Amino acid sequence: MGFNVAVDGPAGAGKSTIAKEVAKQLNLIYVDTGAMYRAMALYMLRSGVDPADTTAVIEKCDLADITIRYENGEQVVFLNGANVNPYLRTEEVGNATSVISVVPEVRKKMVELQHSLAAASDCIMDGRDIGTCVLPGAQLKIYLTADSAVRAKRRYDELMAKGQDCDLQKIQADIEERDYRDMHRETSPLCQAEDAVLVDTSDLTVQEVIDRLVQLCLERME
Ligand code: DC
Repeated sequence: MGFNVAVDGPAGAGKSTIAKEVAKQLNLIYVDTGAMYRAMALYMLRSGVDPADTTAVIEKCDLADITIRYENGEQVVFLNGANVNPYLRTEEVGNATSVISVVPEVRKKMVELQHSLAAASDCIMDGRDIGTCVLPGAQLKIYLTADSAVRAKRRYDELMAKGQDCDLQKIQADIEERDYRDMHRETSPLCQAEDAVLVDTSDLTVQEVIDRLVQLCLERME
């Protein structure tokens, strides 16, 4: 096994922003597992499948061929041969993703893909179950979190900056609902691994969090 870093935590904690930058500084591959589940949810929405209809989701999930490529250091997700990156980061897809990701058949397929990526390169992988289930032997595990009001405000600012009109209260309610579902599902729920380092980003700047993680990685690499 190469050098693996697992980063888990609730929606909007800053996992992808931070992990992407740490990857760049330490020359690791950044694996965004949420994007894989998002591609699966997008497939269901495009196929007219209700994300809550578990039987239909199981039936359809084998028809979604999800692969990952790296282009200029960026993870690109392909769904049945087409780059779907531009369609993954909407609130609609995010909420549907939290619903379909409770299905064990979906998780099994995504975890296989994650194992093959981690086996091929030194990586920093973010998600919900990376330290607990996907890479239990990771050299460093981080549990990144922040207060739900702070996370909602960050997501709000991000969407507004992209020109997507949104409602802060609705975003916070969605985040709390998503946290609850991600933490209480039966298969691989979100929780802090026993050996994970807890980093609460509520009162930290992005740069402070990046510096802290880079330092932790360097310590573990020695
Ligand atoms: O990190 P994100 O917001 O892109 O994740 C979207 C949803 O995907 C999240 O609500 C739960 C699910 N997910 C998961 O169940 N397991 C992972 N390893 C990553 C994401």
